[in-house]
Amino acid sequence: MCGIVGAIAERNVIEILLEGLKRLEYRGYDSAGVALLKQDGSLTRIRRAGKVQALADAVADLEALGSTGIAHTRWATHGGVTEENAHPHLSTDRIAVVHNGIIENYEHLRDSLKEQGYTFTSDTDTESIAHTVHQKINQGASLLTAVQQAVKTFHGAYGTVVMDTQDPHKMVVARSGSPLVIGLGLGENFIASDQMALLPVTRRFIFLEEGDVAEITRRSVSIFDKDGRAVEREIIESNVEHDAGDKGMYRHYMLKEIHEQPVVVRNTLKDRLGENALVSNVFGDGAEAILSKVKHVQIVACGTSYHAGMTARYWLEQYANVSCNVEIASEFRYRKSVVHPNSLLITISQSGETADTLAALRLAKAQGYKASLAICNVAGSSLVRESDLAFMTRAGAEIGVASTKAFTTQLTAFLMLTLALGEYNNMAAQDKKDIVEALHSLPAKLEETLTITQGIEDLAEEFADKNHSLFLGRGDQYPIAMEGALKLKEISYIHAEAYASGELKHGPLALIDEEMPVIVVAPNNELLEKLKSNVEEVRARGGIMYVFADKDARFTGDASMRVIDVPHCHAVIAPIIYTLPLQLLSYYVALIKGTDVDQPRNLAKSVTVE
Ligand code: G6P
Repeated sequence: MCGIVGAIAERNVIEILLEGLKRLEYRGYDSAGVALLKQDGSLTRIRRAGKVQALADAVADLEALGSTGIAHTRWATHGGVTEENAHPHLSTDRIAVVHNGIIENYEHLRDSLKEQGYTFTSDTDTESIAHTVHQKINQGASLLTAVQQAVKTFHGAYGTVVMDTQDPHKMVVARSGSPLVIGLGLGENFIASDQMALLPVTRRFIFLEEGDVAEITRRSVSIFDKDGRAVEREIIESNVEHDAGDKGMYRHYMLKEIHEQPVVVRNTLKDRLGENALVSNVFGDGAEAILSKVKHVQIVACGTSYHAGMTARYWLEQYANVSCNVEIASEFRYRKSVVHPNSLLITISQSGETADTLAALRLAKAQGYKASLAICNVAGSSLVRESDLAFMTRAGAEIGVASTKAFTTQLTAFLMLTLALGEYNNMAAQDKKDIVEALHSLPAKLEETLTITQGIEDLAEEFADKNHSLFLGRGDQYPIAMEGALKLKEISYIHAEAYASGELKHGPLALIDEEMPVIVVAPNNELLEKLKSNVEEVRARGGIMYVFADKDARFTGDASMRVIDVPHCHAVIAPIIYTLPLQLLSYYVALIKGTDVDQPRNLAKSVTVE
């Protein structure tokens, strides 16, 4: 959730740190700070509540020099959004620390450190890390040993970077439950919580593993595993685009990412979908041997990714004849569940670092699943590395906190998985043909759908002064209604609820009046007539409806119903197509309301704490 950047070089590293923070800001953005060490060991710390720009302005006014430095952008967990709570935290002006994650036993550590004379100046759990390391150094440990000893006393999650003013030529970093990646330069080295932060300075990375502690100097990287043994970790050349963090001519990342969907869906299909069938092993080496035995699928995810899983359930059961459960990761990880024979566990995640999803994967590994598959957008992420199989969505870097293009590529991946599993479970030949054809038509259909922008802008005008809204869908459009409602609340702060429209009579109908707009997603599928009855129920009670519909569905607009035509498409890809107008609606409502579209209040892109 927070972002970490660190650098150790011969040159002044402040610009590298600030650029890194800007690139990570989408992950957490309520305060930021930097600590710089000169070669003589003198330390400068600058922190500001607010966005990274406030820190950059402060840095510009001061002489900020240092060849070793750490920086942080925060998403508050312990302690309010204040300068005192911003990282880096210090212990006695000697130790400086940045940290992502939560030290769960911080109160206990705090009490015992206070008894030993340490003074706390913040409400954070992180300050206990700084003092614990300091205490170990005082007892005679080197910086590396002090961090190795300190982490043994922590319960919870940490990705942390520590500097010592009396040892200014090194940084020590430690990871458990919160990712860290080392960037390798020439005569300089770097650390970050995400490779995106370091792309302007290197493309060579080492992803630390759980429990690793590393000592980094300008010329060396020494890594030790959780038992203190020296280990070698693979060096990976990143192929992420350098300018992935650029929003080009678009006003917001979210709008850019909405418009990228035809291209990224095409990329996700490329070299994987042949003319009449999937190419072999698109789900990874050895995937066919595993998939051929799968009889049940358990999907686990959070947020938008969870909605992709919910949509997939309709497809997997309808077309691939495979039974499927879907569960929110934070629920799954804390309850006892029954594992069906020959079950495949599927995790879905844009970032591959969502704490609850990762925990669910780790739990499931011990539960007897046949195998695990990650559908993920970030190569080298923890989820990808820890799963048996991985399928990379090729959405490119997604910066807007509200997920858009990651979602549609996840759905594309699930249609491919439906084909793959259907192959072994008597999928009807016609269904297979339809899905393959529909997938081939998908990028062009998405392009066509993006041309309906004008109608949606007008609609947003009517919508923006409302405080509540209801989204309705049936069948595989029900999760799309949920995703539409999530988008609206995330970025416009309008309360939005989604219902399977058959549930209308069981409660939500009581809410209907002219102040409660009702959004309906209505492709021309076998549930259309049922949906139309639900629409009439709303109309009869004075509700105002906004219906996204296929022309062939023959909805007639009037004072109580605005109809927005969505291009005709094959029913199987309709959930993907109907997602776009809902994304655009949220975007334009947020624009009118003047909210921070890319960095909405209280949220973060990558939720690495539970
Ligand atoms: C956060 C983001 C959402 C995202 C969810 C799951 O809440 O703001 O956009 O859907 O995390 O993230 P993941 O990276 O696992 O897909």
